[in-house]
Amino acid sequence: MEYKVWLMEGLSSQRDIIQGIKNFAHENKKTITVFASHRDPRNEILSCADHSLTEPKDLSERLSFILDTVRKWRINALHAGKNSQWFEEHRLQIEAAGVTLTTGASGAEHLAIADDKAAFADYMTQHDLPAVPTVRISSLAELQAHISAPPFSGSLCVKPVTGIYGMGFWRFDNHASPMAVFNNPEKRVVHPEAYLAAAAGAESFTPLVLMPYLPGPEHSVDILATQGEVLAAIGRRKEGALQYLENSGEAFDLACACARVMKADGLVNVQTRHDHTGKPVLLETNMRPSGGIGYTRHCGVNLPGLFAFYQLGLMTKNEVMYSASTSFAPAVVRSITDVIPWPAQLTNQLDKGERCL
Ligand SMILES: Nc1ncnc2c1ncn2[C@@H]1O[C@H](COP(=O)(O)OP(=O)(O)O)[C@@H](O)[C@H]1O
Ligand SMILES: [Mg+2]
Repeated sequence: MEYKVWLMEGLSSQRDIIQGIKNFAHENKKTITVFASHRDPRNEILSCADHSLTEPKDLSERLSFILDTVRKWRINALHAGKNSQWFEEHRLQIEAAGVTLTTGASGAEHLAIADDKAAFADYMTQHDLPAVPTVRISSLAELQAHISAPPFSGSLCVKPVTGIYGMGFWRFDNHASPMAVFNNPEKRVVHPEAYLAAAAGAESFTPLVLMPYLPGPEHSVDILATQGEVLAAIGRRKEGALQYLENSGEAFDLACACARVMKADGLVNVQTRHDHTGKPVLLETNMRPSGGIGYTRHCGVNLPGLFAFYQLGLMTKNEVMYSASTSFAPAVVRSITDVIPWPAQLTNQLDKGERCL
């Protein structure tokens, strides 16, 4: 029997997920046909799949594109790498076409919580899980007031309420040179007066969360869950340039507890950081595969492969759990910048540029 999984547009790790599934199927002597699609010509991703498609840029065409594709190619499992809210809103229509849909969540409610870093911290606290102490800042005046009378001891930091890739994260330092932000932007340190002056000059105020700066270390835990039940997870402890792969520990357990409370469904990522007492607290969760999910293959646990096998009915819950716990071997990885050839032509394209389903 042939099994078909379709990975729709995701982060750059969509490529690692495709390769993870193909490798796992090959090792386990199963045939899984992988379809991949993206709105943009991401040929370095699309070329790794068995078949590729171009997603419509126009949102009004997305649903019919999905339904037509699922029916035409008899797709069994569909994975949404982005736009999960939209997919949750259309879950019933999509699944009625005969496919299982994975959005990372079991419903729109938890996606909305994960997307708002202040709401997320509140929700975790309500469920007795430690999260970074967080104050929502909705105006420049509020920011000014809190900088003058800090709600936390130690140094403060901010990040946008909604965000990705660490963009907009800044740590305040009263001793920072006004030029620090230009000369060493990667340190993410800014004098609070310089930040306030810049914010005052902006057209509008981007809502922020204000937090105490946590010393770390930071953990990023990639989790495979089904309806809030954790089946497999791999943590990455980040120490400088190195990442230590692990499958136990306090941060790991906290991340798994968070995934349960968030009713995670599919491949998700939870991030923690140690506070000044050495205890991990939750920073955020992303209800989608992380950019670094591919790194976890180096510890012997192929999370994308396990995801596909579970979703396609090739493995039971117990088999996934057993496989993840018995294949794990600790490993240390380092991310490097690399280049790969970008195929100018795709040879696996089903729609050849125009959608003719
Ligand atoms: N309170 C904090 N203390 C120290 N570092 C933090 C804190 N909050 C965020 N960071 C740093 O900023 C990065 C980005 O924050 P995060 O909450 O993961 O948002 P996103 O990844 O969505 O931009 C984190 O990986 C971490 O290194
Ligand atoms: Mg993050």
